[in-house]
Amino acid sequence: MKFLVINGVNLNLTGTREKSVYGGETLDELNAKIAAYAAKQGDEISFYQNNVEGELVNKLHAAKAEGYDGILLNAGAYTHYSYAIRDAVAAISVPVAEVHISNVFAREEFRKESVLSPVCRGTVFGFGVGSYIAALEGLRTVLQ
Ligand code: DQA
Repeated sequence: MKFLVINGVNLNLTGTREKSVYGGETLDELNAKIAAYAAKQGDEISFYQNNVEGELVNKLHAAKAEGYDGILLNAGAYTHYSYAIRDAVAAISVPVAEVHISNVFAREEFRKESVLSPVCRGTVFGFGVGSYIAALEGLRTVLQ
């Protein structure tokens, strides 16, 4: 299967920002672990990061034409208020798994709301890089 991992706003700073929350590994290092896991399962996987809301929407729109079977989406703070990203997820037929590195329920109140969750196939949070890997397994299960 062919998967796309989309990381949104501020995720490019993973490894240097709030290390106690997001860990000390860079996004490239996390992606390398996800890629190694996916390769073992025989999956194809690509990675995309952008800080701009509209670019994330554009990438979601393009996913079907680009041949992806499933998308892992960590939209960062957009998770909590972006109706544009929510509508894009609802508009496409490729299933999307919502992912968070941190345990959003153990943090500030505003992080407990996700406007994306209702339109995503499922959500995994709190396991660091393991959130992406668990989400990949979740998507594979529903796609099979
Ligand atoms: C995050 C959680 C969000 O609340 C936050 O704004 C992020 C990262 C996570 O991966 O834990 O930027 O999505």
